[in-house]
Amino acid sequence: MLSRDHFMKCWSKVYPFITCLGVMQDKKDFPSLQSHLFLCLLMKRFLFGLVTNFYPVTVQRFSVTLKVSVFDSVVQGGDSVWEGLRIYNRKVFKLEEHLDRLFDSAKALAFNNVPTRDYVKDAIFKTLIRNGMFNNSHIRLSLTRGKKVTSGMSPGFNLYGCTLIVLAEWKPPVYDNTGGITLVTATTRRNSPNNLDSKIHHNNLLNNILAKIEGNNANADDAIMLDKDGYVSETNATNIFLVKKGIVMTPHADYCLPGITRATVMELVKKENLVLEERRISLSEFHTADEVWTTGTMGELSPVLKIDGRVVGDGTVGPITKRLQNSFKKLTEGLGVPIPTY
Ligand SMILES: Cc1ncc(COP(=O)(O)O)c(C=O)c1O
Repeated sequence: MLSRDHFMKCWSKVYPFITCLGVMQDKKDFPSLQSHLFLCLLMKRFLFGLVTNFYPVTVQRFSVTLKVSVFDSVVQGGDSVWEGLRIYNRKVFKLEEHLDRLFDSAKALAFNNVPTRDYVKDAIFKTLIRNGMFNNSHIRLSLTRGKKVTSGMSPGFNLYGCTLIVLAEWKPPVYDNTGGITLVTATTRRNSPNNLDSKIHHNNLLNNILAKIEGNNANADDAIMLDKDGYVSETNATNIFLVKKGIVMTPHADYCLPGITRATVMELVKKENLVLEERRISLSEFHTADEVWTTGTMGELSPVLKIDGRVVGDGTVGPITKRLQNSFKKLTEGLGVPIPTY
């Protein structure tokens, strides 16, 4: 079976070009960018790039000049919010919902000088058009608290406003949605509102990365994370569903990211006239489920065939999973905000 990491290795060989649009917040940053961290050195594989401030500065192809300041809040403290968006058929799927969550997360973290919704949309569309990305693409959209006047934690050092990064890649769903995936349960617990509310979609992903390391060590595709009381919250990167005796269940969103794919699939479950329960679910219920799948923009609906060494159901992709995968695919073919032609 193709693991996610193996897939990513192969993928990076087949499609060695990553494209990016970075939106810097201040025109006068531009000359001083030489001293700044090269985002492209981190990413290594740029093809096209576009660097703008709130009004476009320059458009460059085959560029290696996309940079994020070493004083940027995302470098200093992971102080940033983000969204993953997917492009189908010349449309951005669930764009408004993703922007709602982005702006809500920024508000919860008390960001100042946030760009307008229209500005962010325009940056997304321009990146896609510039790179001819109208299908099979994924955008990693980050909005950071912006550049600081000096290193340090305080938002009081943020005098320039937010930085917007639109990172677009050629990337089909990253999991094996036909053959299924394997999960293990991590010892790392998902953040609770007691410490850092999982409803904020922030870039400080160490909680999830620690769980992902546990998954990698166990050769699993991802790791299930429990909440502080030992109930299942989600995986390190996706929301999770199970089916038992025809009833579809998913953990309520107190300790997990309220995923946009999760909400979409919950709607589809209702449309398919299936019974849906949103409640606390224990790990043994997942171990003994008839079907399990995960949801997320990066991977869509991914059937889970093994959890902690227990085979899920009969070890094949279940009928309800397939049904929902089909209705999700139909939805993505028709729904979305069209990329304008300008
Ligand atoms: C921890 C976590 N859970 C779930 C998801 C899936 O969310 P969505 O369906 O909005 O992509 C993500 C995606 O960013 C995530 O990071």
